[in-house]
Amino acid sequence: MCGIVAFTGTSPTVPVLLNGLRRLEYRGYDSAGLALQTGDGSLEIIKRAGKVAELEQILEETGKAHTSADDSGTKPALGEKDTPGAANTPFSQATTGIGHTRWATHGVPSEANAHPQHDCSGSIAVVHNGIIENYAILRAELQGRGHRFVSQTDTEVVAHLIEEEYAAAHEDLVLAVRATVARLSGSFALAVCHASEPGLLVVTRNDSPLVVGKTKTGAIAASDTPALIEYTREVYYLDDRDLAVLHENGTLHFFDPAGSAIVPTPVTIEWDLEDAERGGYPDFMLKEIHEQPRVVKDTIAGRYSAATGRISFEELALSPRELKHIERVIIVACGTSYHAGLIGRDLMETWARLPVETAVASEFRYRNPLVTPKTLVIAISQSGETADTLEAVKLARLAGAHVLAITNVVGSRITREANTVLYIKAHLEIAVAATKSFLAQVALLTLFALYLAQERGQLESGAVGEVYAAMEQLPRQIAGVLEDTASIISCASECGNAQTALFIGRGVGATICYEGALKLKEISYVHAEAFAAGEIKHGPIALINPEGLTDPQVQTPVVAMACKSATYDKMLSNIEEVLARGAKVIAVATAGDTRIAELTGHVIFIPEVPECLSPLVASVPLQLFARHIALMHGANVDQPRNLAKSVTVE
Ligand code: AGP
Ligand code: GLU
Repeated sequence: MCGIVAFTGTSPTVPVLLNGLRRLEYRGYDSAGLALQTGDGSLEIIKRAGKVAELEQILEETGKAHTSADDSGTKPALGEKDTPGAANTPFSQATTGIGHTRWATHGVPSEANAHPQHDCSGSIAVVHNGIIENYAILRAELQGRGHRFVSQTDTEVVAHLIEEEYAAAHEDLVLAVRATVARLSGSFALAVCHASEPGLLVVTRNDSPLVVGKTKTGAIAASDTPALIEYTREVYYLDDRDLAVLHENGTLHFFDPAGSAIVPTPVTIEWDLEDAERGGYPDFMLKEIHEQPRVVKDTIAGRYSAATGRISFEELALSPRELKHIERVIIVACGTSYHAGLIGRDLMETWARLPVETAVASEFRYRNPLVTPKTLVIAISQSGETADTLEAVKLARLAGAHVLAITNVVGSRITREANTVLYIKAHLEIAVAATKSFLAQVALLTLFALYLAQERGQLESGAVGEVYAAMEQLPRQIAGVLEDTASIISCASECGNAQTALFIGRGVGATICYEGALKLKEISYVHAEAFAAGEIKHGPIALINPEGLTDPQVQTPVVAMACKSATYDKMLSNIEEVLARGAKVIAVATAGDTRIAELTGHVIFIPEVPECLSPLVASVPLQLFARHIALMHGANVDQPRNLAKSVTVE
């Protein structure tokens, strides 16, 4: 995700755009830029890799900004005459423009890849939040028609398409933008500025958020309300493929996807600024848990062709021949990413019939592992900066292995150390506890396991299509879990006083438990431990407090992953074993299961999904379970004690 801001009015636009970008930096900050109508019929674009503050510094140094304070020391409110920080320059007096703070999905963070992106003539500037899924074919077609591209981004195709459509629409920018987005698939919030259309901006969206408002001196649009809140609290939320035209006199015109004028109902923002940055959620962790349907959708989007019945990874720099010659896979990672690797291991072994092992990166690098040029090492890292995982990658490369990095951050260090990279599309994850990035990692690893099996002739296209069709249902099923959390909160409330919690599961259920236990311990500081359910008899069952048999207040909570599976009956036996010793069992079970309720009254039901996809749904209740208990303990769920979002030290 990223932040886009657009403003046109009768007062300088630079302060409004910069202020808005600062407010949206929580959405992404690897590069930033502005495009402004300078009044002489041209557009001026200034952009840099780095944070908004660095862009501001460049603007100050070049005398192109003015965000000086008035006598009272406060920044002039919009509409008051700003005092230029330097001589009036086209930039500082511009009253129409667009701005962007980026979180890269296509193309490393750089000045060329920063937004705004522009067309061949430099007359059209575009800022974009989202992912253009069909950008590759559009880019090829545009290049075939002579368009010159200067970036690696997916976004740039939008500027060149508008260039073509603007000519075809006889220089009607609104028609040109509508015709352009009709050719796009994927997610986008767009703001478009044309040098020949002074005092006019066009904005539109699909899947990515966009909010529009009228201010004292003009009209504003942005990815999210924090950028508007100081200028107006009455806003309009666009629906998918709606389009809005912002005029410098503050007039707003809205159109539906068919081009008919509409009059949306304004919404009054009650939030304060801080709430707005969290999208109204009390913390980033809950916000990111609720982004998971979108993240899974984005991560799997465009990876399967119904026409060919095949999974594809165009960006994978590993040929089918090389994949066929791989004799062994080693997955290295840390923490939550390691748990995602465990799931990927089972799927690759099951579907691709390849020996796959997993290794905690901090151990792998010191054990003199057996790695050869016929080994594929898959390094998983949300941040792409984890020291132990980076060192494991270097060791694998030195041993001649192919290294595939799976990461969430474009341009991170791991992308420069690996042979090839696949990106999850989790967008920026701020809470230290990984949630949406874990689901995105599991989704991508599931697809990659299918791909590996397909390329090695172990799975027919029918089977691949079946799994992918089930994956397409996941966003809706995850959303269903998030819409009804009463049982999760109730079960968590029952366990709020426990200082120990056990998690038990079998097969992929055990891995879901490993991740659930990590979530609980890392944000609530409760000692939580997960076991393969078959193992509890071999020691861990001694941890259950027998006083729980007579005093429910001291029962040891045992979270049991008891979804429909080949080992369901065995799980029921394990649940009876721990109940008989005084445990309080919280069962995660498949909707419609009537047997589980005979054993325990604490049941969290989830929709029925194929067992191979169950982590993508069953993990969500455990995230919420951990968060609720942490809140009961008064912990800061976004920034747990002693932890960092990226462990860049060994
Ligand atoms: C998970 O909630 C933690 N934030 C931590 O275990 C994390 O998964 C681990 O540090 C690995 O981080 P990475 O994926 O960025 O490499
Ligand atoms: N996909 C676009 C890019 O990589 C926009 C990313 C974003 O939403 O920040 O530049």
